[in-house]
Amino acid sequence: MFPTASLTALLVLAVSVVAKPIVVRDSFVTLPFAKQLNITGALDLVHKDQARAQALRAHGTARANARAQGLNPNSASAVTSIGVTNVAQVYVANVGVGSPATSYSLLIDTGSSNTWLGAGKTYVKTSTSTQTSDRVSVTYGSGSFSGTEFTDTVSLGSGLTITKQSIGVASRSSGFQGFDGILGIGPTDLTLDTLSPDTNTQIPTVTDNLASQGTIPTDLVAVSFEPTTTTSVTNGELTFGGTDSSKFTGSITFIGLTGTSPANEFWGINQSIRYSTGTTILSSTAGIVDTGTTLILIATDALTRYRSATGAVLDNTTGLLRITSAQFSNLKSLFFTTGGATFELTANAQLWPRSLNTAIGGSASSIYLVVNDLGSNSGEGLDFINGYTFLERFYSVFDTTNKRVGFATTSFTTATTN
Ligand SMILES: *[C@@H]1O[C@H](CO)[C@@H](O)[C@H](O)[C@H]1NC(C)=O
Ligand SMILES: *[C@@H]1O[C@H](CO)[C@@H](O)[C@H](O)[C@H]1NC(C)=O
Ligand SMILES: *[C@@H]1O[C@H](CO)[C@@H](O)[C@H](O)[C@H]1NC(C)=O
Repeated sequence: MFPTASLTALLVLAVSVVAKPIVVRDSFVTLPFAKQLNITGALDLVHKDQARAQALRAHGTARANARAQGLNPNSASAVTSIGVTNVAQVYVANVGVGSPATSYSLLIDTGSSNTWLGAGKTYVKTSTSTQTSDRVSVTYGSGSFSGTEFTDTVSLGSGLTITKQSIGVASRSSGFQGFDGILGIGPTDLTLDTLSPDTNTQIPTVTDNLASQGTIPTDLVAVSFEPTTTTSVTNGELTFGGTDSSKFTGSITFIGLTGTSPANEFWGINQSIRYSTGTTILSSTAGIVDTGTTLILIATDALTRYRSATGAVLDNTTGLLRITSAQFSNLKSLFFTTGGATFELTANAQLWPRSLNTAIGGSASSIYLVVNDLGSNSGEGLDFINGYTFLERFYSVFDTTNKRVGFATTSFTTATTN
């Protein structure tokens, strides 16, 4: 009896030692979110994507220049800040604030880092709401807000909570119709200078607080998108602190962030792109991974090579490349090589969803492609954007702790959906 009992005790001890990191790893926070296509007319999709690409490049270059001159990069970036709502698709999650929590519909933004509410639903204060002595304001490319800073309990997804999260409570906001505010999950240094009088302070983001409060083991966010054929759908999943193995297949390839400016101001990586077996579209160069861009944008010279390889023509109505059925039958995969691995974007994955052709002002019977023009030639330090149409085929991980981006295949990577 005695030996058995001590064996049991040993086993329990061993299990609990081993179990601890597993429990922590499993305690990531999963937040489902809805995607809404916000396209107001023909050419709007391509124009919004290209405008965002230009804003990102200008913003990154201004920050790099300011840093080179020993200035606060944020003083330079205010004028070139990136639009949140004037993008072709927005992501929205329901986030609880207070105790008991009131649910707010917040835009998820990887390009800004303040979390705030009050644009729509009025802030409901509870015993966990504490006003600080600061005011907070942020100017976005497409709007702004200002108000007071509070700390409060924030609940994400399945009942997991962050205590004393800084939130902005807007007394004035513009450009955010239909939403209550923003859940900012970009790099923390974008919050510098948004408080006053405490100007020289950074505000920990929800991801930072989840990590520092021990709720998640690593300061990272993973994103699962799935191909969609409707303009509004809830099929995205944001995971804080870990990856959700039910959402990807095989293993995750991690790619160290690039040092090349201005891509290094964002989630920048080095990558090369090849069409079929032998046609180089883009030699290894720096670019970014961005959930706020819809299309896959490549440098103008690279797009010319892609057009010759595929036979695609520019469709004047939608701004997208268009191919014939015969060209589609011959369309080969695009191969994205990064971090020592190659990710295959199939012919089907290169198509704009045909069921959404008319939603972007196109013709129902046409075949449009999701690869488009970045608006500048390669060699400028930001030569591609792997946008949503790439990320709906590959699981992505944005790892602040280890300064890397991860990609993995999913059950949708080679699916025929378009
Ligand atoms: C949609 O985009 C327009 C700009 O084209 C912008 O003014 C508007 O706020 C956006 N709406 C949403 C819901 O994001
Ligand atoms: C990215 O490419 C640049 C330019 O070729 C190179 O200097 C740098 O080491 C590369 N960085 C990574 C992380 O691969
Ligand atoms: C599309 O626009 C280009 C450049 O503006 C023009 O040369 C071409 O003729 C147009 N094509 C069609 C089919 O309208």
